[in-house]
Amino acid sequence: MDSKIKPVSIAVVGSGYVGLVASACFAEIGHHVVCVDNDESRVRILREGGIPIHEEHLPELLERYRGHTLEFTSDLRAATQNAQAIFIAVGTPQSQTGSADLSYVDAVASEIARSMDSYKVIVEKSTVPVYTNEWIRRVIERNGVAKDMFDVTSNPEFLREGTAIVDFLHADRIVIGAATEIAANLLKQIYFPLTSGEYYRAASAVPGPRSEQDPPPILLTSTKAAEIIKHASNALLATKISFINVVANVCEAAGADVEEVARGIGMDTRIGPKFLRAGVGYGGSCFPKDVAAFRHVAEQVGVEFGLLHEVEKINEEQKLRFFQKIRSALWTFRGKKIGVLGLAFKGGTDDVRESPALDIVKRLLSEGCTVSAYDPAAAARTKEVIPPGPCMRYVDDPYAAAQDADALLILNDWQEFAELDLPKLHYTLRYPIVIDGRNLYDPATMTKHGFTYLSVGRPGLSQPLDPVAAFFLPRRRDGART
Ligand code: UDX
Repeated sequence: MDSKIKPVSIAVVGSGYVGLVASACFAEIGHHVVCVDNDESRVRILREGGIPIHEEHLPELLERYRGHTLEFTSDLRAATQNAQAIFIAVGTPQSQTGSADLSYVDAVASEIARSMDSYKVIVEKSTVPVYTNEWIRRVIERNGVAKDMFDVTSNPEFLREGTAIVDFLHADRIVIGAATEIAANLLKQIYFPLTSGEYYRAASAVPGPRSEQDPPPILLTSTKAAEIIKHASNALLATKISFINVVANVCEAAGADVEEVARGIGMDTRIGPKFLRAGVGYGGSCFPKDVAAFRHVAEQVGVEFGLLHEVEKINEEQKLRFFQKIRSALWTFRGKKIGVLGLAFKGGTDDVRESPALDIVKRLLSEGCTVSAYDPAAAARTKEVIPPGPCMRYVDDPYAAAQDADALLILNDWQEFAELDLPKLHYTLRYPIVIDGRNLYDPATMTKHGFTYLSVGRPGLSQPLDPVAAFFLPRRRDGART
């Protein structure tokens, strides 16, 4: 390894998505990491080799470093005493007012203060509103720690669930918000294996878009700017999605294809092609919470950010609109059997927090439908929210979900859902109606295979089906219309 690469002793407080991924990745780039969580059972699971989240590459990394350079503990005092840098990666849930609830951050800051006996760099990794940095500083000082014994910095993460490890190790940028040189230098030292390109030379490096010749850049900012960068990034991405969803609705009404329109918009390098996929709306643990929190932050500093309110409103309406589309295809709901593909808030994860799919399934159940649902990873977590029963079945493959269903819904974008055997699917469904909330299929191909195919923002048969016409669809041998 390069002589400039010096291992740093790091404590990561919180073993949720961000904390666990950061811990594994810091170990992967050569540091000594202790990951702390006050949930003893989670710590036990992690120590014994369990992996509480579905994340590509995470099992290999945990396996490689657990018990060597990566330890798990519930003893915050012991973990932070020996650390040079302490990353706070605890939850910042949404409070009733929409603002971020910072009570976990507050509690952790006090606890860190009580165990500090040498200079530490405290790093906000959780998504927090601007000024949190100052609050952490005040809490620590209030607990009797001298000003020159610590620095508080901000180093936001930009990880997407499902690709979090690659996003960390092959970041677009590494944002470091620090007020002192000594703190900025320690963070630079931590990320040096990535920013120097050294990491990508190792044969065992997790593959991704970055390379030795093209390593991630560091952006040094003030702590406040770093805090705002995180909130503003998520808010802008959510805005892009709501924007294209409204454009999709315009396309649908005008008879144009939103996929063509999105391609045309995205080819403008000032706009870019990403996050322009129309669908059933955004979900997950970040966008809904962070858009609300950023709107609240703006309000607190006296700025009206009505745009974000509109982004949220459009997202809610998009789910409702999709539900109306299902109604337009089925006419009535009571007693109908619906196949559902996708429960997580997107493909590639088992996370169902704020999932548009769950919202739609709940509405179907409340209208008297029977649902057969399949998701490659999210069934277990969905069962905690919607228990299995006579009206809600969880099945093990897409065709079991489609079996004798009056319609099949596609609600997230697992690759598997884009590669279905269409003749088999056609035969399996009671009525060959597919309502696709993620535009995974070409409407012409679906029509060729005999499906009534509704999607988002596309013309032709993707227009809402005339319910009377649906009744006259040709019938299958068993009496179902084919
Ligand atoms: C997001 C940010 O991307 C990440 O940088 C941040 O750190 C955490 O929040 P994540 O919540 O994992 O990551 O999901 P992401 O892949 O961004 O998707 C969020 C939601 O938007 C999903 O429901 C997804 O299906 C939806 N989406 C995304 C669209 O509807 N259209 C798109 O074009 C992109």
